[in-house]
Amino acid sequence: MKKYFKGILATTMVLSMTAALAGCGGSGETAATDAAEGGEAKDTLVLATSADFPPYEYYEGQEIVGIDAEIAKALGEKLGCEVKIEDMNFDSIIPSIVSGKADIAMAGLTVTEERLQSVDFTDSYATGVQVVIVKEDSDITSVDDLFAEGANHTIGVQTATTGDLYTTGDIEEKGLGTVERYTKGADAIAALTSGKIDCVVIDNEPAKAFVEANEGLKILDTEYITEDYAIALAKDSELTESINTALQELKDDGTVQSIIDKYITAE
Ligand code: ARG
Repeated sequence: MKKYFKGILATTMVLSMTAALAGCGGSGETAATDAAEGGEAKDTLVLATSADFPPYEYYEGQEIVGIDAEIAKALGEKLGCEVKIEDMNFDSIIPSIVSGKADIAMAGLTVTEERLQSVDFTDSYATGVQVVIVKEDSDITSVDDLFAEGANHTIGVQTATTGDLYTTGDIEEKGLGTVERYTKGADAIAALTSGKIDCVVIDNEPAKAFVEANEGLKILDTEYITEDYAIALAKDSELTESINTALQELKDDGTVQSIIDKYITAE
């Protein structure tokens, strides 16, 4: 699937072409370093995601679909790149950008100060809210119950997500409970359903999808925190500017909103 323009071009030529192009456009924008190191230029944008997060990214049969997958495709069309999705565990996403294994990451990925230490983010394209899922008969009735004096709940999260980060700091490190980390959100939901844990902290849209797919669960009305989703790229990536421009165009012409509306029905 990757299209490489193998080493016929001298490295210097590849580099000058890279600098001149704003997108992929049949030549080497995506990975200036690849071009420099390997003497190859590619017109494929490698997208890191964790396809366990409906409606942003999930499997429909063999295919990864969802809001992020479709926005990525639209961005690729604008930039003249083929987008190749690499599915991985969520906690591998940021490392894959740092190591250059992937060019961009879209995974309902929240912009955080901590992540900004190692990657750059584009402008935001969506909002997420951390919510709490409990069993219908749970004695946890509001988010504040998790922080109450003497609280001692077991909270499930997806490893390395902001849900993990916040509950670790706000609850576990304060001695108010234990955080159980799962590779996938769905594994945390299964643990909740089987009574191993007391609640799950996760983003609101996947929360809705999981609650719909599982009997006996509900989302608490009170929200934990609101966050911005954006695309992660390597620090100082040459792609950031062209992706931001393309993203803005897709926002302005209504493409982003129509993709979101296709997957999320307004309440
Ligand atoms: N928004 C949260 C974060 O950035 C969770 C994202 C999880 N995404 C996924 N594809 N599993 O940490």
